[in-house]
Amino acid sequence: MRVGVLTGGGDCPGLNAVIRAVTKSLIHHGRCEVIGIEDGFDGLMSDPPRVRPLDWDGVSGILHTGGTILGTSNSANPLRDEATTRQVARNARELGLDMLVVIGGDGTMSLAHGLQRRIGLECIGVPKTIDNDIANCERSFGFDTAVATATEGLRRIESTAYSHHRVMIVETMGRHAGWLALESGMAAGADIILLPEIDFDLGSIIERCRERERRQRYTIICIGEGAKETGASLTVREHVAGSPEPMRLGGVANVLRERLQPHLKSEVRATVLGHLQRGGDPTPFDRVLATRFGHHAAELVIAGASGRMVTLQCGAIGSVAMSDVANVQRTVPVDHDLVVTGRDIGICFGER
Ligand code: F6P
Repeated sequence: MRVGVLTGGGDCPGLNAVIRAVTKSLIHHGRCEVIGIEDGFDGLMSDPPRVRPLDWDGVSGILHTGGTILGTSNSANPLRDEATTRQVARNARELGLDMLVVIGGDGTMSLAHGLQRRIGLECIGVPKTIDNDIANCERSFGFDTAVATATEGLRRIESTAYSHHRVMIVETMGRHAGWLALESGMAAGADIILLPEIDFDLGSIIERCRERERRQRYTIICIGEGAKETGASLTVREHVAGSPEPMRLGGVANVLRERLQPHLKSEVRATVLGHLQRGGDPTPFDRVLATRFGHHAAELVIAGASGRMVTLQCGAIGSVAMSDVANVQRTVPVDHDLVVTGRDIGICFGER
């Protein structure tokens, strides 16, 4: 069998661990030939395609490294027009691909699902994202590392907030899902956590900051990039035309700073953690999860179970139909136990 592997969408720590596990498992069990596609779907759309062989030695020593040795793209869209989709079909045929393992987020899963339906390219999905927002998957690899990085960022901000008696707003990534803000905010002991799933009321934030001005004299606010004030619109950093995910978020921490400062005695500062959260070596948890995901993807390839995405549910590795994942986002339920816990220990979620 000839099996292609590509990494699509924004990168995250643990991609190389999947590439290593899937390649080694396929070579070991399936006597397969593995081909790496460069720069996500971009490499499969170009003429000629950009590919490289993946062998045992070529994927050795990459388990602990961040990023992806194959490169990625979060703007390539193989379904953007007929000619592009035909080119992908031609490339897949000429490369002799029997199956394609796509490692990506919900956007990449939707594209893989679409390709399988449109041109019959058989795909297996592996869920990755620091946003942890893939449907039917309780944890994607990359998330644990991003939580650790964001938590460390918040803790570093806290010491300077304390010294200067300031209100510090720290913005995490996560798009329309608040998992990263919620877990890092909880782990760092933030005083206020603002999630995309709960529109915030400025008055309640002012009230909490004033109360802390009187007692603790500094306040840490952790805000997800997709959060917004009641009645306001999302803070969009840029639009990328033709991309599967055209709206890039970012900057809401600065918007909140402007809104908050006139009402407080303390100085208010904003920090956007940005791509720091996507970089660096994966945590041991992510290395192990990515290895389990990669191994199971290889098992699905060997079983010929195309159209499935590897998943983690109730701690067990399994798979779900890609059609159940494509174009669906897993957001934080407002009654999630971590939110309830937060409320009960006095964290403000910006609710009136
Ligand atoms: O989906 C992963 C992610 O890091 C989001 O959290 C963030 O909104 C987006 O990608 C950033 O994309 P870019 O790398 O294009 O700025």
